[in-house]
Amino acid sequence: MCHTFDKGGRDKLGPNLWNTVGNARAHSDGFGYSDELKGMHNEKWTYDVLNLYIANPHSFAPGNNMSFAGIKNMKERANLIAWLRTLSDDPIPLPAAK
Ligand code: HEM
Repeated sequence: MCHTFDKGGRDKLGPNLWNTVGNARAHSDGFGYSDELKGMHNEKWTYDVLNLYIANPHSFAPGNNMSFAGIKNMKERANLIAWLRTLSDDPIPLPAAK
């Protein structure tokens, strides 16, 4: 209902998420982003930031339009972000082990 994940996939309620990890925020041309996310366009979706956004979209970006409560479980978020990373022609390097 909300997102597509394939290359060139269309936007739905939310933008297509191909090539999101490591890319500029609000990068989907033509999608009607909130001013909140548009205001972050000069910054990237790094692993750390995506983790915060997916944990609680509305505390990370109070004015954003994504009606999703977030995923509280860190391992689930890590697995999801690892998968989102694969949605790219050239996935960014995995984070260095801490
Ligand atoms: C695990 C679930 C989800 C993940 C990982 C996710 C991920 C994302 C990401 C990374 C963005 C920013 C994309 C960009 O900068 O181009 C985004 C935006 C958005 N998502 Fe989601 N999303 C999820 C669930 C949902 C759901 C359930 C909805 C619909 C009810 C939704 C609707 C939206 C909308 C409307 C935006 C644009 C927000 C704005 O412009 O303020 N998402 N999502």
